[in-house]
This record gives sequence, C-alpha cells and structure tokens, in this order.
Amino acid sequence: MKRAIALAVLCTAAMLACEAGGVTDAGLPTEEHEGAGTGATEDMLPELFEDRTLFPTEFADPQQDCVECHEQHVQEWEISNHAYAQKDPVYLAMVKAGQAATGGKLGQFCVQCHTPTGLANDLTPVVELDDGTFMQDFSQLDEIGQQGVSCDVCHTMSEVVEPVNARMAMTPDGNKRGGIVDPIDTDAHGSVYSELHKSPEMCGSCHAVVNPKGALIEETFGEYARSSAAERGETCQTCHMPAYTGRATPDAPERELHRHTFVGVDVSLLPPDEFPGYDTMRELTTELLRSSAEFSARYAEDSGRVELAIENKAGHALPSGATAERQMWVEILVRDADDNVVFESGTLDAGDDVRDGIHGEQPGTDPQLIYFGQQMIDIEGFADMNDAEKATARERASENCISIALGAVKPDSGLMPVTFPWQASWQCNYLIEPDETAQAGYDLPELPAGDYVADIRLLFRTFPPYFLRELEAVADLDPEVKTRLPTVEMAAERLSFSVR
Ligand code: HEC
Ligand code: HEC
Ligand code: HEC
Ligand code: HEC
Ligand code: HEC
Repeated sequence: MKRAIALAVLCTAAMLACEAGGVTDAGLPTEEHEGAGTGATEDMLPELFEDRTLFPTEFADPQQDCVECHEQHVQEWEISNHAYAQKDPVYLAMVKAGQAATGGKLGQFCVQCHTPTGLANDLTPVVELDDGTFMQDFSQLDEIGQQGVSCDVCHTMSEVVEPVNARMAMTPDGNKRGGIVDPIDTDAHGSVYSELHKSPEMCGSCHAVVNPKGALIEETFGEYARSSAAERGETCQTCHMPAYTGRATPDAPERELHRHTFVGVDVSLLPPDEFPGYDTMRELTTELLRSSAEFSARYAEDSGRVELAIENKAGHALPSGATAERQMWVEILVRDADDNVVFESGTLDAGDDVRDGIHGEQPGTDPQLIYFGQQMIDIEGFADMNDAEKATARERASENCISIALGAVKPDSGLMPVTFPWQASWQCNYLIEPDETAQAGYDLPELPAGDYVADIRLLFRTFPPYFLRELEAVADLDPEVKTRLPTVEMAAERLSFSVR
C-alpha cells in the first residue's frame, strides 16, 4: 500500500512563471478563486485531496512515542525552531494578517511548511466569518500538528520533487528514514537508510520559499548551492546538525549521531515558561552568529574614512532565510577627547528602529547606514502584466534597488516598498553572498585636529520593531513579544586615531 502524501505541488520552480494559469503555486489561488473559503482549499492542493483514503493519517507524538528510546533527540528537537514553527506568535499573527488581507486567498500556503502534519490531516481550514472576513482556524489542530516540523515530518519524508515550496512527499508507512546504514532492530518501527536524509535537498524542500507572484521570500537553498561549502561537499546537516558520538537509544551501539537543536538565528519570543530552552537557545544562536562573520575595521588617514570588511563565513548568504525580517547592521559612535559624539550611524530612533530610508520615526536621517537584509517590493501594474512583461519588470526592478538608507528604491521607478510577503512581487537584497566580503565604510565629517575613538559594533536581530508594531496593529500581536527580542553583538571593535 502506497501512502505517500505529496505536499504542495503545482508549479515548477522555474517559479517565476508561477502565477500563470488559474491556480497558482502552493496554496494561493488567483482571482478565479474569489471568495476562497475551505472550498477553495481543495482547488489549491489537488494532489493532496485527490485520494481521500489517505486520511486520517496518524503521525507520532515525539513526547509520547519517541522519547522513551530517543530521549536525547527529543530534548534537542523540543527547543528547536522546528518545534516552534506552529507556535511562533509572530508567525501566527502574520497568518492572521495575511488571511484577512487576502480574503482567505493565502489558503494553505503557510502551513505546508509550518505544520505539514496538520495540513495532511486537513486540520487547518480557512473559514469565512459572519462579518465576511477570513481566518485560518487552528483550533482543530491536534497536539502533533501544533508541534510544527515534528519528527515524523522529516523521518517519513521519502522524496523531494524539487527543493522549493514544500515540494516533497511524506510516506507514513511505519518506517523511520534516517542516516544509519545498519540500524539494530526494534519493535517500535522499521528503520530505513535514506540517502535523502544526508542531502541538502531534504532541507531545501522547505528552506526555499517563492510566493505565487514570484517574489523570492527565502533563498537559503539556492544561496547554499552556489557556495564553496556546497563545492566542498558540506551540507546543511554538516553545520546545523553537527555530528557527535553516542547511542541513538540506550541499548544501541555507539555510533555517529547528529544534533537536533537546529541552531540558526531565531529564538522563541513566547514567555520563558511557554516554550522550553529560552536561555539555551539565546546562548546557542549568539555563539553561531559570532562565528558567522569575520569583522575588521580601520581608519584610513589619507581619506579620513573608517573602512570595514565583513566576511561571510556561513554556507549561504548572511543573513539568510526570512531576510525581509532579519536585520544585520553596523553601529558606530565616534567621540572626541572630551567624549562628545562627533559622528554616529546605526544608532536607533525612539521606537528602537534603525533609521533606514523608509521605516521608523526618523526615516532617512542616517544616510551612511550600513545594513544587511531585504526589502520586499511590489511593482506598479504587476497584476495586469503578461509573463514576458513580468520578467522584464523584475529585471528592471533589481536595477532600481538602491541603499535602504536612501529609500530602498529609486524614486519614480514604479517600485513600492511593502511589509508582508503576500504583497511582494519582487525583492531588493542587501545580503553578503556566500564566501564574499562586504567592503563598506563611513566618510567622517571634517574633524578638528585632535584624538578620537570610534566604537564599532556589528549587530543582529531577527525582527525590526516597526514590523512587530505593525502586527500589533493589524493582528493583535502581544506587545510583550517585542520586549523579548534580543539584539546580538556579533563583533565589536574600538579604533583610536588622531586628526592632524
Ligand atoms: C522502543 C524503542 C524505540 C522507539 C519508541 C522509537 N525508536 Fe527509533 N530507533 C530505535 C532503535 C533501536 C533504532 C536503531 C538505533 C541504532 O541502530 O543505532 C532506531 C532508529 C531510528 C532512526 C534511524 C533510522 C535509520 O536507519 O537511520 C530514526 C529516524 C528513528 N529511530 C526515529 C524514531 C522516531 C521519530 C520515533 C518516535 C515516533 C522513534 N524512533 C521511536 C528504537 C526506537
Ligand atoms: C558552512 C556552514 C553552513 C552551511 C553549509 C549551512 N549553514 Fe545555515 N547557517 C550557518 C551560520 C553560521 C548561520 C548564522 C548566520 C546567518 O544567519 O547566515 C546560519 C543560519 C541559517 C539560518 C537562519 C538564517 C537567518 O539569517 O535567518 C537558516 C534558516 C539556515 N542557516 C539554514 C540552512 C540550510 C537549509 C542549509 C543548507 C541548504 C544551510 N543552512 C547550510 C552555517 C551554515
Ligand atoms: C528537520 C528535519 C528533522 C526533524 C524535525 C527530526 N529529525 Fe531526526 N534526523 C534528521 C536528519 C536529516 C537525520 C540524519 C542526519 C545525518 O545522518 O547526517 C536525522 C537522524 C536521526 C536519527 C538517527 C541518529 C542520528 O542522530 O543521526 C534519529 C534516531 C532521529 N533523527 C530521531 C529524531 C527524533 C526522535 C525526532 C523528533 C524528536 C527527530 N529526529 C526530528 C532530520 C530531522
Ligand atoms: C517541513 C519543512 C522543513 C524542513 C523539511 C526543514 N525545515 Fe528547517 N525550518 C522550517 C521552518 C518552518 C522553520 C522556522 C520556524 C519558525 O521559527 O517559525 C525552520 C527553521 C530552521 C532553522 C532555524 C532558523 C533560524 O532562523 O534560527 C534551521 C537552522 C533549520 N530550520 C535547518 C534545517 C535543516 C538543516 C533541515 C534539513 C535537515 C531542515 N531545516 C528541514 C521548516 C523546515
Ligand atoms: C516553503 C516553506 C515555507 C512556507 C510556504 C512558509 N514558510 Fe515561514 N518559514 C519557513 C522556513 C524554512 C523558515 C525559517 C527561515 C529563517 O529562520 O530564516 C520560516 C520562518 C518563518 C518565520 C520566523 C522567522 C521570520 O523572521 O519571519 C515566520 C514568522 C514565518 N516563517 C511566517 C510565515 C508565513 C506567515 C507564511 C505564509 C505567508 C510562511 N511563513 C510560509 C518556511 C516556510
């Protein structure tokens, strides 16, 4: 009996043509599906709904079904972002905002990666409320569905059709697929060696997100594919599931095992007692971030410039993933001998926002801001263009991206900065490509002769406060979430110099 569950599907990752035809990729219906409620869901995921005999399918509960034998794996996974994926308050607020803003057309797009088991069991319907607005109903989600990317999501995975938009199949046939070539027998499950689980494509199935308009929301897999890490044969697992020696179960032989904490940059923003590993994850992500860039600064006497070099040591862009939310920037404070600040950049406004060219309370007041991340954009008239026109418009859009400190897009270019992924038809990237070193710097103002000290810090945070405030306004995000957001100091340097 074949019980493969194909998640998402539809359009190929030639992806830029995703919106062609009536049904768009992965859950977002086009205009033809006006009034999308639960009914439209079926149109959006034809393969999933073709064979209803697949459902309901039982997936395992890690705490009940695995912990007895794989305690170490469960303890590591339960503090990971995979366990957090469907509990993440920012994610839940975004889904709420997105379903409301698109009249339910967001459909099952988000859950295909954030709770694949919930989707497979049809527990995440999009419903129309009495007042005509739409929401995604998560109240039916079982304990397992709430566990996001749980053990069985990965260990029943049998095929990746294409490493983008959850184009993968899960086969919950009682076998656990993994990387052990000669597993000892157990009554609990069949154990199957799977080459897929050694591959980056397995992770790429979710770690590459393209929205139905063709905007590249997350590009981690593609960035990795062009890195020297990939060339050297390192995989996502090499860095994010480091190997150690131990026993997979108490009575199994000692062998090479792999960490399941999946450390990245994200930490739980729930209250410490509502999601485990609050402090541990903050320590682990800080450690990883500090290892991910080589930072150096110098004062160039001849030009009066402070020059920086930031080398990306990760296996993909820095930052990567949900780059529209990630913020990596440089803070500099130059002081004279009397401790007066004579130059500053990367310092925050009253709302704790970086003073880039668009957001916050003092946009554009920091023209030399050095910032890494992404600005999502929409292109004027995009919806009415044919495919060829869209391709041209995207190419032109990339050429019209400018520094985020100066507004992100050239004025009169027909490009509009947008906040949420469902609004975007393209993106302006300010990332450090894999293996690259960003060269940047500041032209200091003309300074009187004397001694100066420059304190320079490379900083990182996972969300900008303006973004969280927007979610508070449109989707009732708890304002307390903001207060738990850490800013990580990735590197710091102090330069002393004299002006003669
Ligand atoms: C009764 C004990 C027991 C339980 C319960 C159990 N397992 Fe296992 N599992 C084992 C043993 C034994 C092995 C083989 C370990 C070895 O040879 O080192 C194994 C191996 C595995 C492997 C590796 C397969 C391979 O070939 O690479 C995975 C993945 C796995 N288990 C997942 C799970 C998950 C997920 C659960 C919960 C749904 C679970 N196991 C529950 C005993 C158990
Ligand atoms: C050479 C080691 C290395 C490899 C290979 C690697 N990563 Fe990373 N990854 C890192 C480091 C270091 C960071 C922290 C810096 C950053 O955010 O880029 C990171 C961060 C991340 C993040 C959080 C990114 C962000 O800024 O929000 C994700 C998600 C991620 N990696 C997934 C992957 C996936 C998926 C693959 C394989 C396609 C992969 N990584 C391959 C080292 C690696
Ligand atoms: C995001 C995907 C993912 C999730 C979620 C996940 N695993 Fe794994 N797991 C893997 C991969 C990939 C490997 C193989 C790594 C390798 O061999 O390089 C693996 C390996 C294993 C192994 C074999 C021993 C080892 O450490 O290599 C066991 C046992 C296991 N996982 C159990 C679990 C359990 C139990 C859970 C849930 C608590 C879980 N996994 C959640 C991806 C995942
Ligand atoms: C079924 C989809 C899926 C698969 C498969 C998957 N991931 Fe993830 N991963 C996610 C989601 C969703 C999140 C973010 C959850 C959140 O924070 O809301 C995530 C988060 C992460 C993070 C933390 C990112 C951060 O910013 O801190 C890392 C690291 C990561 N995954 C690595 C991997 C690796 C390595 C693999 C392959 C072995 C893998 N993932 C496979 C969906 C997936
Ligand atoms: C194809 C898989 C996929 C889809 C579809 C998807 N996500 Fe994610 N999501 C991920 C992965 C992988 C990560 C981890 C990336 C990282 O940490 O940088 C993530 C991280 C996140 C995070 C936490 C990190 C951050 O900075 O935003 C939020 C919030 C989120 N997603 C919201 C959504 C929403 C809302 C949707 C639907 C509009 C969605 N996602 C659709 C895979 C997906």
